[in-house]
This record gives sequence, structure tokens and C-alpha cells, in this order.
Amino acid sequence: MSQLIEVKIPDIGDFKDVPVIELAVNPGDRVAAEQTLLTLESDKATLDVPSPSAGVVKEIKVKVGDTVSEGSLVVLLEAENVATASAVAPAPVASAPVAAAAPAAPAASGGLVEVKVPDIGDFKDVPIIEVLVSVGDNIAAETAVVTLESDKATMDVPAPTAGVVKELRVKVGDRVSEGNVILIVETGAAALAAAPTQTVASVPAPAPAVAPAPVASAAPVPQATAPAGKAHASPSVRKFARELGVDIAKVPGTGPKGRIQQQDVQNFIKGVFAQIAGGALPGAAPAGGVTGGGELNLLPWPKVDFAKFGPVETKPLARIKKISGANLARNWVMIPHVTQFDKADITDLEAFRKAIGPEAEKAGVKVTMLTFLVKACVAALKKFPDFNASLDGDNLVYKQYFHIGFAADTPNGLVVPVIRDCDKKSVYDIARDMAELAKKARDGKLGPAEMSGGCFSISSLGGIGGTAFTPIVNAPEVAILGVSKSALEPVWDGKAFVPRLMLPLSLSYDHRVIDGAAAARFTSFLTQALADMRRVLL
Ligand code: COA
Repeated sequence: MSQLIEVKIPDIGDFKDVPVIELAVNPGDRVAAEQTLLTLESDKATLDVPSPSAGVVKEIKVKVGDTVSEGSLVVLLEAENVATASAVAPAPVASAPVAAAAPAAPAASGGLVEVKVPDIGDFKDVPIIEVLVSVGDNIAAETAVVTLESDKATMDVPAPTAGVVKELRVKVGDRVSEGNVILIVETGAAALAAAPTQTVASVPAPAPAVAPAPVASAAPVPQATAPAGKAHASPSVRKFARELGVDIAKVPGTGPKGRIQQQDVQNFIKGVFAQIAGGALPGAAPAGGVTGGGELNLLPWPKVDFAKFGPVETKPLARIKKISGANLARNWVMIPHVTQFDKADITDLEAFRKAIGPEAEKAGVKVTMLTFLVKACVAALKKFPDFNASLDGDNLVYKQYFHIGFAADTPNGLVVPVIRDCDKKSVYDIARDMAELAKKARDGKLGPAEMSGGCFSISSLGGIGGTAFTPIVNAPEVAILGVSKSALEPVWDGKAFVPRLMLPLSLSYDHRVIDGAAAARFTSFLTQALADMRRVLL
């Protein structure tokens, strides 16, 4: 059932006559529930107005520059799956407490000001999805310092005053409520004098809620190095850029006052792809990478009205899927992949694993084949250091530490937690770390630090099934080991076929860094190590 509904501006606190600074949709666009329709910017906050329902935008009642207040009609939406009998329904978001992020009153003490979470309506424990400033940054009053995202709205919290960031009290993933201290700003002339060079003090005044990007950002693909927080973009545009792995600071804004719009991010990506195809992107195609070929000349993504062919249900892609999807797509396009297949005889190792089971249980751990694989991979990485390297332009960075990532399946999608210093840990330590990280992953509690710094990844589908697959390299790593389900197979021992437990391995590697022969040696070493773990000691 579809119905025409009026989308109105929800409760935005005490704000009145707030300018519309960006329209995120066009008439005819199909939108998901909660998708941003337009962005408002008061002198205190930037606010995205979400769609109350999935549907098709029929008419937009405002234009950029118009001012709106609570209750202003902004969009006519042909909404899907609306239960109400009324033909014109009020926007459900009107009842949602999407409060304006007014800055908290500073609690000054000797030039130090605590920046607190302002009144955010009924929301509590809202996750911080972005920290936009760093310690030492010199910020203008109203510079957005963090972005919060509830299930209803994305909100920037602006600094109430200019000064130098002295201390950050929060990190991405922390949950905050009204009154929580986010950071400490040192105000006054002394702070400004001590400010480092990456300052936004030179940004043209007057600064709105988000400091405007320098005028120079209108130049094509500038080498802007300003921190992301200084980019003049709404939360939804920054979110869009983040999900696609785009550094918003590098995107030239073409909106009013250099504001970066969604279209600017899309154009930026198109430009990057064109450069990759032309081999012109610095760092994208060194050492025999992607060169030549002109434009990618891809067909546009097929737009199909699936509902024409049968009943459908549309759901937004989970956040983890969007982020990992963007990373996987980049890695797939930019890395010339080859996959080397092999099989390891793990008959003895599996017997050993079973034998130590009770002892491991007493120690409070479960040792799975993956635990041994981590150890075997560390030994292989030590023997073949190219696999523990990363491309950095024309250089190879060889890591002298052994942090191993493992792909973990979670209800929301794939994540890769990293077990640190696997060379220094026992099999039990690794099993314990793996169980803890896998649980955190499934509970959605992994912090960014627990997913970074990996040297090499293992993706095990052995607990599920399959005989082989081609994993995608997890850049900037240069190789990833795929593991499939072990099975008893008849193996010729020179006299007869004997049943052996064989483990299929699929090693994908970046062919810019690793030759086929090296990959074959690597997997061959791995199979020998797994067949006889004493080799790991050598
Ligand atoms: N062959 C046969 N059986 C295997 C196996 C293999 N290669 N690997 C694991 N198993 C068995 C285990 O022994 C265990 O059996 P048991 O309960 O009888 O002892 C069972 O499969 C389940 O193992 P699991 O709990 O998954 O442990 P794990 O250490 O193998 O894996 C994770 C841990 C976190 C990696 C795993 O749970 C997971 O999320 N895997 C999916 C990763 C993924 O999605 N990769 C794809 C990325 S594209």
C-alpha cells in the first residue's frame, strides 16, 4: 500500500527559521526509511532531516536557502507500507526527538573549557561515530568536534568557543549522553599563539557550525591535508564519504561557501577511478600495477523495479556491510589478485588437537584448527618476509611484528579482528584471544584498534564447508589465506591409498609484490608445517 504523506520538519529544539543548506534527493528518487532528505544548518548545529518511510519523492517543497521551522512542509512522499488510513500523514520523524545540538555552557577554569554533549532530546548513550578533531588542533568556535549517530539522526556537536584542543575524553564507539565531557579546549591568546600549523584559524570568518572549507578547495583534486573535521559538509555527506572510504578533506566542495555535497563525493570517486584506469593516481599503480586502458567504461548499475516481477521487501544495507563492501570493492579493483591452492595433511595435527582437548578445556580455552593455522602462518611469514610487507608508493614496508587478522562472521556482516604479537603467544593464548575477539565481533563491540595493524589475514570457512574459494586481499596487507573444510581423502603413500585428513588452503596474493613461485613456496611451507608442527620450531 502506498500513500502520499507530507514530510514536515520535526522538533528542532528552540530553533526557528533555519536555512536549508542542502537537498539530498530529487523528485522521482526512491528513498529508504531514515535516508536523509535535506540538511539544515543553524548557527549552532547541522541537522539531517530523515525520511519517515521508504518511498518515492513526489515533490520537494523547499529549495536551498529557504528557512524552515518545526512543522514546515518540506517533501511530499509516496510512502510504502504506511499503516495509517489518512491520505496525508504527518512525518513520523516529527515525533522523534531529533534535537539541535546546541553547545553546552562552557565550564571554564583558568582558560580551559569543557566541551560537553548538548541537549540531544530524549537520546541517551548515543554512539560517537566520528571524532573530527585531534589534540593540538586550533579550532574556531562552532567547529564540529564529534558526530553522534542515534537510530534516528546524525548530529554534529560544535565547539562552543575557539581555542586549542588540549585533551580528548572520547573515542569512536564511545556512547555519550547530555552533559558528558567530550574534550577540553584551551581558550585565549596564549592558546592561539601556541597553535600548530594545521589550524583552521585562517579559514574565512564567520565560521558556521562546521568550519567552511578553504576557498582553494574548488580546485580539482586538491592536495588538501586539513583534518576531516574541518571539511564543510553535513553529517550525512561525511557519513557517505566515510562508507566509501573517501577522505572528505580531499573532496572539493561546490556548494554554497565551498560546502561539500553528496554529488561532490560521487564526482571525486569517479575522478579517482578514471585516474586509476589511466594509471595516473599516485600510489595506485606502482611497480607494475594497474596501468593503461583509459576509462573503465563500465555500464551503469542496472536499475530494476523488482516489484514488477513479484513481491519484494527492501531493507537498508547494514553499516558493516557498507563499510566492508567499499573496502572490498577498492581492493578487488586495485590489487591484481592471484590465488594459489594447496592441501595440507592435518591427520596428525587433528589427532594432537583432540588429545589436548581436555587439557585445553581445563585451561578454559577451545583450540580449533584455526589456532594452529595462526602459528603456522607466523612461521611462514618469518621465512617469507615479502608476505609480511605492505606497498607504500614505490617502497615496500617490511613489518617486524606478527599481528594476524581473522575474518569473523557476525550477524551484521564480516569483520576482521587482529590478534597482536602472535609470534610471542602460545597456542592457548591465541585461542583465548581469538575467542574473546570473535565474541566482541559478534556483540558489535570491537573497537577500531582491535581491527587495525594486521600483517596478514586468515579467512576460515572450514567450520561451514566448501572445498576452495578466492579470498580478497585485505589492503594494505599483501596476502590472505582462505581455509576450507578438511575431509578424509585417499592419499597414495607409495604402496597403497591411505585415508588422510586433508585441509584445503587458498592463498590470494597481491601479484605486484609476490611472484607465483613465492606463493607456491609459501603454501608448500605451510602444508609441511601443518603436517608436522615441529617445523614451526625451526
Ligand atoms: N575443517 C573442518 N572443520 C573445521 C575447520 C576446518 N577447516 N575449521 C573449524 N572446524 C570445526 C571446528 O573444529 C568446530 O567443530 P567442533 O565444534 O566440533 O569442535 C566447528 O568447525 C566450528 O568452528 P568455529 O567455532 O567456527 O571455530 P574456528 O576457530 O574455526 O573459527 C571464527 C572461528 C570466528 C573464524 C568463525 O566462527 C567464523 O566466523 N568463520 C567465518 C569466517 C568468514 O566468514 N570468512 C569469510 C570471509 S569472506
